[in-house]
Amino acid sequence: MASPGSADLVIVANRLPVDRVEEPDGAPGWRRSPGGLVSALEPVLRANDGVWIGWPGGTEQDLEPFQDDGMSLVPMTMTAAEIEEFYEGFSNATLWPLYHDVVAKPEFHREWWDAYVTVNRRFADKAAEVAAENATVWVHDYQLQLVPAMLRELRPDLRIGFYLHIPFPPAELFQQLPWRRQLLEGLLGADLVGFQLNGAAQNFIRLVRQRVGHKTHRDLVYLPDGRTVRAAAFPISIDAASYETLARSEEVGQRAKEIREAVGNPRKIFLGVDRLDYTKGIYARLRAFGELIADGEFDVSDAVFVQVATPSREQVEQYRILRDDIDRLVGRINGDLGRIGQPAIHYLHSSYPREEMAAFFRAADIMVVTPLRDGMNLIAKEYVACRYEDDGALVLSEFAGAADELRQAWLINPYDINGMKLALREAYAADEREVTKRMKAMRKTVLQHDVSAWAESFLGELASVRPSHGKTVRPAKRS
Ligand code: G6P
Repeated sequence: MASPGSADLVIVANRLPVDRVEEPDGAPGWRRSPGGLVSALEPVLRANDGVWIGWPGGTEQDLEPFQDDGMSLVPMTMTAAEIEEFYEGFSNATLWPLYHDVVAKPEFHREWWDAYVTVNRRFADKAAEVAAENATVWVHDYQLQLVPAMLRELRPDLRIGFYLHIPFPPAELFQQLPWRRQLLEGLLGADLVGFQLNGAAQNFIRLVRQRVGHKTHRDLVYLPDGRTVRAAAFPISIDAASYETLARSEEVGQRAKEIREAVGNPRKIFLGVDRLDYTKGIYARLRAFGELIADGEFDVSDAVFVQVATPSREQVEQYRILRDDIDRLVGRINGDLGRIGQPAIHYLHSSYPREEMAAFFRAADIMVVTPLRDGMNLIAKEYVACRYEDDGALVLSEFAGAADELRQAWLINPYDINGMKLALREAYAADEREVTKRMKAMRKTVLQHDVSAWAESFLGELASVRPSHGKTVRPAKRS
């Protein structure tokens, strides 16, 4: 057993909550990392006084553990080849599309897998080094699925949780993976494996039974060594109260007014906010809006679309293709349908701080969230949290995890452009009473089930001791 460190709670995620960047004057600085995982986990780390192990982006090799804004951060290194093979390759060109319903074709390369194993081992070694005796280690997301088993081997004293932020695919898709068994065994190193939705947990249990051959009962897996692993759903959320406070602030209110003015004070503002990712359904959504203008349903002086697309994974080919496609589509819609000083779509390829995002959410009458597949989608919840006056409509894909909770949204199938057009029209025309009724109900859900409730329920479940199951079970299958 490796000798223990001193942290009682260790969060292990591919990314640190801050990214190493170069300031305009060339000096190195830090910026908040993109994506839902970071927005959810940051408040959890602050509340629990833990340590976060992750990659700060880039290839810098000699970064020491440091404190940022009250958080203890342990930076991990990655070489340029590992960024290409582990991060861009296996994580984001194999697992990401495979786990998102193969909306893009996953690529399988043996060198990428080797890099995945190497980097997972590095994270496991680091976690073993910093965790105190009997500490809790919480491993996150698809980039690190081998860490639980690697870590258990080094430190059997630890309580290990794993949480998957993205969907977990049905067996029919997962079994395409040449390394399917290794990934399942990696996850089984955890005591508790958390997913966004029940269906994902069931997919996992079924795969463990079929592919690894362990005995399972409902949400439990009985391992031959006497350990029990539980797989269950813990739908993730946001720090809703802090979004509401931000939205209520004078500055954000003022900024929201400026945004409305800057886009010409139309009757209604539609808003999309996403990482520029092919799973988010941005293309179909903008097409639907463009068609509504072309059909004469909306006029550009009455309705504008603001699309914020945060740059993401720009070295991965599918993301470059998507960016070009969206650039072309926005250019065509604005060229065909815009008027001078009145484009139909305001397209911003940029990331903004939380305050500015809260102002966008305050300014927007209709939030449009139309992923083809999404683990949860925290943007939808952020919008709801910011609408403290109980107004604002949400158009939401059935294929986002958030649709399970936000039933009062205008739910759409993102593959059905006509259905999406209908929902956009309905949300545009809905009377105030209807909008308020729906938003009130959604706000209740989001404010009640916030990120601290999520973390408490996961960590509470992880802490509950599960003695050896005492059953005689057959050894795992060989293949
Ligand atoms: C999603 C994933 C996270 C990831 C984030 C940003 O939210 O679930 O694991 O960190 O996207 O993506 P990136 O590749 O920039 O870390």
